[in-house]
Amino acid sequence: MKPKILVTREVFDETLARLSEHFEVESNQGDTPFTADELVARLADKQYVLSSSSDRFDAALLDRCPNLKAVCNIAVGYNNIDLPACTARGVMATNTPGVLTETTADFAWALLLAAARRLPDADTWLRAGNWKRVRLKDFLGIDVHHATLGIVGMGRIGQAVARRARGFDMRVLYTNRNRLPSDIERECNATYVSRTELLQNADFVSLHLPYSPENHHVIGAQQLAQMKRGAVLINVARGGVVDDAALVAALQSGHLAAAGLDVFENEPRLNPGFLGLRNVVLAPHIGSSSSATRLNMTLLATRNAVAALTGTPPNLLNPDVLKQQKGA
Ligand code: GLV
Repeated sequence: MKPKILVTREVFDETLARLSEHFEVESNQGDTPFTADELVARLADKQYVLSSSSDRFDAALLDRCPNLKAVCNIAVGYNNIDLPACTARGVMATNTPGVLTETTADFAWALLLAAARRLPDADTWLRAGNWKRVRLKDFLGIDVHHATLGIVGMGRIGQAVARRARGFDMRVLYTNRNRLPSDIERECNATYVSRTELLQNADFVSLHLPYSPENHHVIGAQQLAQMKRGAVLINVARGGVVDDAALVAALQSGHLAAAGLDVFENEPRLNPGFLGLRNVVLAPHIGSSSSATRLNMTLLATRNAVAALTGTPPNLLNPDVLKQQKGA
């Protein structure tokens, strides 16, 4: 008998076919996210799960899923999974790094350019039938070329964002937990500075940090006040890294010229203040959403699940779990 896997959200037929070679698959192709109780009920007879960032795997839930052996997230971020709780219960946890790096970096740039040049505002105005004439002073944006880009969090995606800045002749500043080796700094044309220096000097600040309790509100009212008047904030990282109420206030006051946001606190119920602002570009957490990348993410999560059947998944997040794995 094949082991059983639950796929918590809709995925591609190709992904289901690949999974079916190794597992008996139950998938949620209707795509209504499961509540915690539904998740527990569906996992009662399953050992494996292909999860999304909308599923929370905390200690309380894991305690109710005694048969679970691996949680394979279809995302690079894994703040929806309590890793120590998984490890303590012998449950492997995996993510999908690498395959979405370039696509997410592209999207950070899409938001940056759209926010700088007021693209959604112009699009809305045009669709509303307003285009009789465009005045010299309409839709005045901010130049991206030759501006200073500040990158907070210089992992894979931050570096990919920095590399793209060369084409715009930008100065790039970065801050990171650790300074990068000099060959990577050269390749990214990026200068390591303190966070304060970055906030005070960047025309565009792009966030690429994972969410963790330490990174909660890394950009709050105080940090927004440190940013240059007229600067632009981009967030394709995670909700909670920014204090959204403080950001709404900074956009309302005009201290920040604009923002481009793909992630929010309490998404999908974002702060209503954003909806009334014309100087913010809003996206529903779609940074990795190209056809090729979304497929590759599901296939990488599948590879992780298949590897978990017999050994160590390539993207195991809690290697300590191997010391106390559940019996086969
Ligand atoms: C998307 O947000 C991801 O973490 O992959």
